[in-house]
Amino acid sequence: MPARPLDSRCWTIGTSRVRGAHYAVFPERLCERPILAGCPKQGLVLDPFAGTGTTAVVAKRLGRRFIGIEIKREYVRLARKRLRSAHAATGVRQRAAA
Ligand SMILES: C[S@@+](CC[C@H](N)C(=O)[O-])C[C@H]1O[C@@H](n2cnc3c(N)ncnc32)[C@H](O)[C@@H]1O
Repeated sequence: MPARPLDSRCWTIGTSRVRGAHYAVFPERLCERPILAGCPKQGLVLDPFAGTGTTAVVAKRLGRRFIGIEIKREYVRLARKRLRSAHAATGVRQRAAA
């Protein structure tokens, strides 16, 4: 099998930091590409392990709707806080279930 250039199989994305207390926040750029490739505008993105809501923030910024599931209340609080900041910046409204 012919060798393919590395960049066609691997993404090189630097780490990033988020204020708060989660052990594995991933960089926004990591979910940007799959959302753009796999979800149309106004489409629905589901993250069943939402953590601090990185996927939600990116989905909203890209004009997608979002459902997040997270088992830890403290991370849900962090995610809501991040979403509020993102909404304030973009003017998008948030609807959250308790
Ligand atoms: C790797 S972290 C996700 C981090 C997220 N991508 C971010 O950027 O903040 C995985 C998350 O899944 C959550 N989790 C683990 N088991 C779960 C379950 N059964 N239901 C919902 N959430 C769960 C953990 O609490 C953790 O926050």
